[in-house]
Amino acid sequence: MASAFAQEKTPVATPAAGQVQSDPVKRGQYLAIAADCAACHTVPGSAKLFAGGYAIDSPMGKIYSSNITPSKQYGIGNYTEAEFARAVREGVNAHGTHLYPAMPYPSYAAMTDEDVAALYAYFMQGVQPVDEAAPETRLAFPFNVRASMAGWNLLFLHNQRFAPDASKSAEWNRGKYLVDTLAHCAECHTPRNAMMALEDGAASYSGSQLGSWHAPNITSDAVSGLGGWSDAELAAYLKTGHVAGKAQAAGPMAEAVTNSLQHLTDADVRAIVAYLRTIPAVRTPGQAAPSYAQGKAADTDADTIGLRPMQVNMADMKGEELYANACASCHQSTGEGTRDGFYPSLAHNTAVGGASVDNLVAAILFGVDREAGGKHVLMPGFGPGSEVQALSDAQVASLANYVLQQFGNAALSVTAAHVAELREGGPTPALAKLAGPAVGIAVVIVLALVVLLLARRKRRARH
Ligand code: HEC
Ligand code: HEC
Ligand code: HEC
Repeated sequence: MASAFAQEKTPVATPAAGQVQSDPVKRGQYLAIAADCAACHTVPGSAKLFAGGYAIDSPMGKIYSSNITPSKQYGIGNYTEAEFARAVREGVNAHGTHLYPAMPYPSYAAMTDEDVAALYAYFMQGVQPVDEAAPETRLAFPFNVRASMAGWNLLFLHNQRFAPDASKSAEWNRGKYLVDTLAHCAECHTPRNAMMALEDGAASYSGSQLGSWHAPNITSDAVSGLGGWSDAELAAYLKTGHVAGKAQAAGPMAEAVTNSLQHLTDADVRAIVAYLRTIPAVRTPGQAAPSYAQGKAADTDADTIGLRPMQVNMADMKGEELYANACASCHQSTGEGTRDGFYPSLAHNTAVGGASVDNLVAAILFGVDREAGGKHVLMPGFGPGSEVQALSDAQVASLANYVLQQFGNAALSVTAAHVAELREGGPTPALAKLAGPAVGIAVVIVLALVVLLLARRKRRARH
């Protein structure tokens, strides 16, 4: 519920490299995995692959993903390749209706014709039709005026195919295409402006709020980004979601690893790493040391072996006592985790030492759930519906503050109000607050911006 990107385990094997080259349907399948189409077009836990109906909790209301199986009545069975290409790259479906950018067409816009053709072959020939209608999306006025997306596209859609940079290696170009286009990393890691469009200039990949989670800065900056990670660590993170002494993937990143990134070929993962190295560095204001370099193990001899979080009532506990009962059985009272690294150290962990407290709080509320390389990684959540024990906002805040003080970025603190906000899916962007009574304002703003921008373009053209 918390994330806009919950999803399902893609029940497909990674196609062998040789197969991928020769057979367009297999090639399309690999591309669909790299682009993670199942992330949104399959309801989590459902066997009906690509049948849509998954509700994306956008700040403007629920947006349901479409049925993109080859069903002629309910899916895209009647789509021509040109219509399919237009939907994927330009956000306009076969009926001429504008799609919301919850469908990441602004990233897919750079997809090559060859790849769109392979994807089309896969969706038409390799996917089972599901004859079921996906629910209709009904946003409040003015966001239900889909035509206003035409204005948004004029401003923010760069409708240009990927063009390799001849001055760079083939590996770098492949990496750029994977990161910017197919795997749409920017949709999560690049901040958005007031109109909810990606700020894909100097701020690219400098980190973004993602519902209850925070997608960190992944620029090449040595302090705030990935500058201090080795190539091997980055590759391991993308393949498994776990790097001891650095970070683990939870929330939306766990889903990306589970469904998509772990299935990429080693050559594609190397290409991604090569490109990440060259993303211009952006320093997060106020950050002086890397997130993974913060904190140290607690000096304690408390014996936590055998303590299980299910055994005691934690209702009146806070801070250190909560930690001892809810966390220490796995992360140990020293916070160092277990020796085999399965239960990670909380010191030297980006979720605890970074400039944002959100991934720490979200991990406590929603837990960690990831499957990679045939291994299932699970941390129970302590939010609503917890199978262990549900903690109150004040308790989560007090626990998070203990963890920050002991093991992480002691300069930060968490309030109960912030926990409450993350529990509800994160802060609401200003644009979403325009719905309802502020009738028509957003539409007017979009139109005004279009006019302004066109005027400015003309002025520039005249000089
Ligand atoms: C992050 C979520 C997300 C991902 C990833 C995603 N989609 Fe979508 N897609 C959506 C949503 C949501 C809609 C419906 C948007 C709307 O109603 O305005 C949609 C609509 C579509 C449509 C229009 C269907 C119609 O008839 O209206 C097509 C085609 C489509 N997606 C294909 C794809 C393909 C192919 C991929 C992978 C390359 C993909 N999508 C990946 C969220 C996503
Ligand atoms: C659906 C949203 C989403 C997508 C797509 C996504 N990420 Fe992430 N990413 C996140 C979130 C959220 C985190 C924080 C996870 C955590 O700490 O539990 C994260 C964490 C990371 C980290 C660890 C950074 C740190 O400091 O801990 C790296 C590296 C990373 N992502 C790289 C990528 C790359 C490369 C891509 C594309 C190939 C990508 N991500 C695609 C949401 C996403
Ligand atoms: C049953 C064992 C277990 C318990 C209890 C537990 N954890 Fe975890 N924790 C894990 C596992 C497993 C991971 C993920 C390891 C991985 O990703 O490889 C994890 C990951 C984390 C992370 C990193 C999340 C991220 O997004 O990067 C944090 C922070 C964390 N735990 C804090 C806590 C706190 C605080 C508590 C007490 C409320 C707690 N854990 C209780 C097993 C546990």
